[in-house]
Amino acid sequence: MAKTHITLKVNGKPVEALVEPRTLLIHFLREDLNLTGPHIGCDTSHCGACTVDLDGKSVKSCTVFAVQADGADILTIEGMADASGALHVLQEAFRENHGLQCGFCTPGMITRAHRLLQENPTPTEDEIRAGIAGNLCRCTGYQNIVKAIQWAAARINGVPLREAAE
Ligand code: FES
Ligand code: FES
Repeated sequence: MAKTHITLKVNGKPVEALVEPRTLLIHFLREDLNLTGPHIGCDTSHCGACTVDLDGKSVKSCTVFAVQADGADILTIEGMADASGALHVLQEAFRENHGLQCGFCTPGMITRAHRLLQENPTPTEDEIRAGIAGNLCRCTGYQNIVKAIQWAAARINGVPLREAAE
């Protein structure tokens, strides 16, 4: 099958590639770029495990063709820690608040939470729950995920945790 040339930025680095038009972004990230943080949980746009940030929006990368990402700026979980390896505040928040168990949903959940806090820096508990409604977790019951996002929001905003909750 003929391949298409694409150029994009992934986690701040320029990337050039030849991709088949049928290649999904999640497969391109995992198989061509070896970025295996975004997971494949369903392939049918339900679970959110494949969530990445594309041009400032959360997308389920199993619903996007790699050719549609031509020219885009993509952030995956691999791009969230800083260059020295220090965890992003959301990664620290999930660790500190037991926001994960098996961890399968976590890269998509944290990437989504990152965009949620860009969209709404001081979300209520209900807004957090609505904001992560597209990301399924089969382990945690969500309580500690919500708490982790509240904890991160409080840290980012420099306010005590209780003020970040509803
Ligand atoms: S693998 Fe993309 S939503 Fe489940
Ligand atoms: S921690 Fe296991 S699916 Fe969320």
